Order: sequence, then C-alpha cells, then structure tokens
Amino acid sequence: MVDVILGLQWGDEGKGKIVDYFAPKYDVIARFQGGPNAGHTLYINGTKMVLHQIPSGIFHENKINLIGNGVVLDPVTLKRECGSVAAMGIDFKKNLFISERAHLILPTHRAIDKASETAKGNEKIGSTLKGISPAYMDKTGRNGLRVGDILDKNFTSQYIKLRLKHQKLLENFSFAEDISAWEEEFFEALEFLKQLQIINGEYFINDKMQQGKKILAEGAQGSMLDVDFGTFPYVTSSSTISAGVCTGLGIAPQKIKEVLGVTKAYCTRVGSGPFPTELHDETGELIRTTGNEFGSTTGRPRRCGWIDLVALKFACMINGVTQLVMTKADVLDALDSLQVCDLYKINGENSSQIPFQMSRVNIEPVYKKFDGWQSDITAVKKYKDLPAKMKIYIDHLNKVLGVEVKYISNGPGSDQIIVAP
Ligand code: GDP
Ligand code: IMO
Ligand code: MG
Repeated sequence: MVDVILGLQWGDEGKGKIVDYFAPKYDVIARFQGGPNAGHTLYINGTKMVLHQIPSGIFHENKINLIGNGVVLDPVTLKRECGSVAAMGIDFKKNLFISERAHLILPTHRAIDKASETAKGNEKIGSTLKGISPAYMDKTGRNGLRVGDILDKNFTSQYIKLRLKHQKLLENFSFAEDISAWEEEFFEALEFLKQLQIINGEYFINDKMQQGKKILAEGAQGSMLDVDFGTFPYVTSSSTISAGVCTGLGIAPQKIKEVLGVTKAYCTRVGSGPFPTELHDETGELIRTTGNEFGSTTGRPRRCGWIDLVALKFACMINGVTQLVMTKADVLDALDSLQVCDLYKINGENSSQIPFQMSRVNIEPVYKKFDGWQSDITAVKKYKDLPAKMKIYIDHLNKVLGVEVKYISNGPGSDQIIVAP
C-alpha cells in the first residue's frame, strides 16, 4: 500500500523532517510532483541538509528513492545534490531511481521563468525562478523533453528545436542575459544523469507493491499552492494534493491508504498572494525570528501569521487527510496568547469556505483566542508531558478539522517528535 506525506498550507510545513522520520517504516520513498522549487530540510546526525530534487528518504540505507514522472527535473540541481549526499557517505547510485517520464527543466525554462516574472511588475507570483512553470507548460503543451529522451541519439537536435522556440518567446521579453554558462553545466549534468538509474517508474513502483513493499509518497509545496485548488494564480504549476500521487507515480487511487497532512502550529507563506491570517506586527516578526522563517530554497523571509482552520479544513477535505502532523509547535512557546482563525468574514458575511478568488474579496479572519503555554517544550518526549494549555489548543484543532493531530514536532531535530495517544 501507499501512504502519503504532504503539506496542507503554503509549503515549508516541515515535510522533509517528517518524511525522514517515517522513512524507516517504508521500502520506497517517492517524490510525485514539483521540482527544485522545493527545499526540504533534514538534520542527519546533527548536520543540516536541504534537498530540492532527491526524496527525503535518501539518508536511510537500503531504502529506494524514486523521482517520479510527475516531477520536473533540473539535472544541474540533481548533480549538485548528489554531490552533497555522497559527501555524507550515501551511495546514491544504488538507491536513487528516476522515472524516464519526468520532464526536464532546460536552461531556457529558467530564463523564461525569470523574464516572465520580471514582466509581471507588481503582480509577481514570487516564483522561485527555478523554471517550474515553463517546464510544466511545455509538458501540458506537449513540447517538453523527458529524462528518457536524453538516451535518444536525436536528443541534441530535439533540444535545439525547443531552445529555438524558447528564444522566440524570450524575444517578447526584455531578457538579455547570456545563458551559455547555464547550457554548459546543463549538458555536463546530462552526462552525469545518464549514469544514474533511469527507469520506467510506473512498472517499477507497481512491481514493488505487488511484492508487498511499502511506499511513501512525498509531496512538495503545499495544498494552498496547488494549481487547481490553491490561491490561483499565486500557486505553483503542479498537483500538490493526494490526487497528484496517482498521476505523478502511476499508482491507482485505491492503493492509497494513509494521508498524513503536515501543518505548522501557525502559518507561513513565501512569495506573493493572499494570506488572510498574516501578521504585520511584532508577533509576526517574533514568529519569523524564533521559527527561523527564511526560505530553504531562496532565503527569502517567509510571511508569518496565525493558523487558518478554514484553509486547513479545505486542505483536509481535498486530500482526504487521515492523520495530522503539527510541526514547529515549539516556535510558539514564548507567546502569552495565540489566535486561531475558525471562520472568515467575507464582505461582512461569516463563511467557513475558501472563496473562488481569495485576492478579489475582503477576508477578515474571525479569531478564537487561546492562552499560550509559555514553557519550553523542545525536550518533551511524551504527550502526557506537554503543557495543558497546548493540549487545549490541539483539542480545538482536532474538533474543528475533524481529523486528529497524531504527531507533534517540537524542534528541527529528527528525534523531536511526540506521538499523541
Ligand atoms: P519543507 O519544505 O516542508 O520540508 O520545510 P522546510 O525544510 O522548507 O522548512 C521547515 C523548517 O523548519 C526547516 O528549517 C526545519 O529544519 C524546521 N523545522 C521542522 N520541524 C520543526 C519543528 O518542529 N520545530 C522547529 N523549531 N523547526 C522545525
Ligand atoms: P516546499 O516543498 C514554499 C511558492 C513560491 C511562489 C509560488 C510559485 O519546500 O514546501 P514556483 O517556483 O513553483 O513557480 O513558485 O510557490 N513555492 C513554495 N513555497 N515552499 C515550497 O516548496 C515552494 N515551492 C514553490 O514561493 O510563491
Ligand atoms: Mg521548503
């Protein structure tokens, strides 16, 4: 069977740490969407590692890590990342597998991403500029090149044909950068990629299931960044929700069992777009500094705010979340009071639903106030030892969301996780 770990907010919920924590229970850890826009942080024996392309199970011996067909792959990032992983003593050549159907991110995809963002002026998406949207556009537009294509003798001519299309597109923008250095490292990285295990991912993973192996699907980004259900157009370009597991790996829906939804104890967003519970005051600043809320991929400061149960309930619904994982609970340790958004007031009317176009309506969060627990929880190991005031906060989430918080992460360390009864 397949279990899924995915983000329920606007990304950076702590998925990397949680996947790493659960990896020992599985045989295969598979990324099903997104690309190097992701930045998943793990601590391996105290050393910080940030993974962008490689699944977060790579540090566990004898675990297969699969980059699924739904992922867009930048070979340059992959090569660099394999280098960092090898430096930690990991034999990635043995444990890393890549679907031949995964689409490639070309240097010109990155150029188009940059040019198109610049042209958006003050309506920027806040893209990570990794070429994600242009690469997915070429996939759905049926122009893109896939990992399996690099083994074809006509690859270079196909590449030149697509690059020409991209150059024509770039002429519509004021993009004057010389990308020949990017191209050089791209072709070098393709030679490296050719030495890795490029496979048919869908037969591979279904064979594993047939053999009774356990699969863990690792999501990137978060549900509110989903191309269909997120705060469009301020979203990413892939299906970040549980449905994406089926198309991104070639897995049938009835094979999916547990869906673990990861949420912070509060909320953050990086990049532009609506964020109803955002804090623009010293509490927001305190959360940012205490939680070290700076992007793992771009270093940008993350916008911080209170937990939004309207958005979380929506995310639980569209994903079929069966268990919740609450991360970064320790970041709230010092606060004397906390707010939880239970409802929205949209144009003066109470609503418990996400509107069609969040950025076009006036959303006023309706908050319920809770006492802060004001104690250091980072060393707590058992649920019973958590502060009573924190349990009240968690009970409220359980009640409103109708799904239980089963795991509480109380620090970035791989052992800082508490299981609820
Ligand atoms: P991801 O993209 O969902 O994997 O999350 P990121 O790695 O981008 O961001 C999460 C950040 O929070 C990382 O710096 C983690 O090391 C850190 N982190 C994860 N869980 C916890 C936690 O429970 N407490 C604290 N203080 N930090 C955490
Ligand atoms: P992980 O997996 C947080 C955001 C960007 C931008 C929007 C579109 O680490 O949680 P894109 O580069 O995809 O075209 O950017 O999505 N974004 C993320 N925010 N965490 C991520 O990944 C993100 N990946 C993309 O900031 O607002
Ligand atoms: Mg991240």
